Amino acid sequence: MRILVVGGGGREHALCWAIAASPLCEKLYCAPGNPGIAQLGECVPIGAGDIGALTDFARTNEIDFVVVGPEQPLVDGLVDRLAEHGIKAFGPTASAARLEGSKGFMKDLCTEYNIPTAAYHRFDDATAAKDWAATQNVPLVVKADGLAAGKGVTIAQSHADAVAAIGEAMSERAFGDAGGELVIEEFLTGQEMSFFALVDGETALPFGAAHDYKPVGDGHTGPNTGGMGAYTPSPRLTDELQHEVMTAIIEPTLRGMQARGAPFRGVLYAGLMLTADGPKLLEYNVRFGDPECQVLVMRMKSDLLPALIAAHDGVLKNFAVRWYDEAVLTVVMATEGYPGSYDKGSEIRGLDQLGSSNDIFVFHAGTKADGDRILANGGRVLNVTALGASLDDARRRAYDTVAQIDWPEGFCRSDIGS
Ligand code: AMP
Ligand code: GLY
Repeated sequence: MRILVVGGGGREHALCWAIAASPLCEKLYCAPGNPGIAQLGECVPIGAGDIGALTDFARTNEIDFVVVGPEQPLVDGLVDRLAEHGIKAFGPTASAARLEGSKGFMKDLCTEYNIPTAAYHRFDDATAAKDWAATQNVPLVVKADGLAAGKGVTIAQSHADAVAAIGEAMSERAFGDAGGELVIEEFLTGQEMSFFALVDGETALPFGAAHDYKPVGDGHTGPNTGGMGAYTPSPRLTDELQHEVMTAIIEPTLRGMQARGAPFRGVLYAGLMLTADGPKLLEYNVRFGDPECQVLVMRMKSDLLPALIAAHDGVLKNFAVRWYDEAVLTVVMATEGYPGSYDKGSEIRGLDQLGSSNDIFVFHAGTKADGDRILANGGRVLNVTALGASLDDARRRAYDTVAQIDWPEGFCRSDIGS
């Protein structure tokens, strides 16, 4: 098969790494890809948001299957457009991607289907939102309705913070149109978990759970990031918890999407809070997590590609995936300054001396090639990923590899998985 992966970060490098190893894959393209991906397949200089050019490329190059990494092209209808031209793709249609593209849509679906989630109100008017917030207990969680590149959520510790967050989103439009509407919700406490299910419209197949480290600093300090590390499996995911998440959260969501005429296909990533009252849904994402994808694919014993195709084809019902018993952990190396401002272009040395294996791999998240040199080209730059007999072993192997990378301008958290 001729495969096109859309995206160019660590998640897409991991997807390409697994897909390139599939006996079904004859030719792998990635748009736009990155220097790590270029060692596995052919990178084509088309941005992940350029739906017209991606569709043209897929037609001209007789692509059999497209795998979409990031959320924006899904919300913007890439899968719909490809389908109009008879091209199969992994990922939801635009109307099904509303589960991530509109927090209000997701919350209303939860209400209708009794899916456990934080109590909430929706607003399209700043004054009404501020008046209501003044009557509530703090902390309050203020969320831009639309996609805001992971920045649209504020945990307001005081009423003044809530008023400021509402003003920033609705009046100053800090997140553009994404903040035209807000969801304001109850603050939940507990442990967070990223839970994944492959979905084919009707059937959901549990696809593992991971823990993601969002704050930038050791000990969960400092501002939130896209994720500074992750590990899988989750020691908290018992069979009972998985059953509860599937029956109380994932399966009713599938029914709700069918009833709305927008059956969901692709991967459903439930951001959960494990509260004293059981698991509650914080958010849905309609794509793999980044860096969670990196640890999931390394732990997968089965071939990833047939699983993605089965989700498209509607045949997950009799499908099974197998996992290694071992744990996998990834450490994100980022440019000094991230998630604030940072410089691009510092040189990363030592990567080519690492060799490559199926159980230790450095995924590229934000790099650029300059001849033979690899330069940092983003905030999150490398994902140093290792499999080990235990979580401790995986952690030791990942940090041993980090220590071999010569990049003075980079940093990582030192406590992933501890
Ligand atoms: P979201 O993009 O909705 O997942 O929110 C980003 C992060 O904000 C989550 O990973 C949580 O850490 C936090 N968060 C979101 N909603 C809540 C909530 N209702 N209570 C506590 N923390 C939350
Ligand atoms: N790691 C969090 C996310 O992908 O949204």
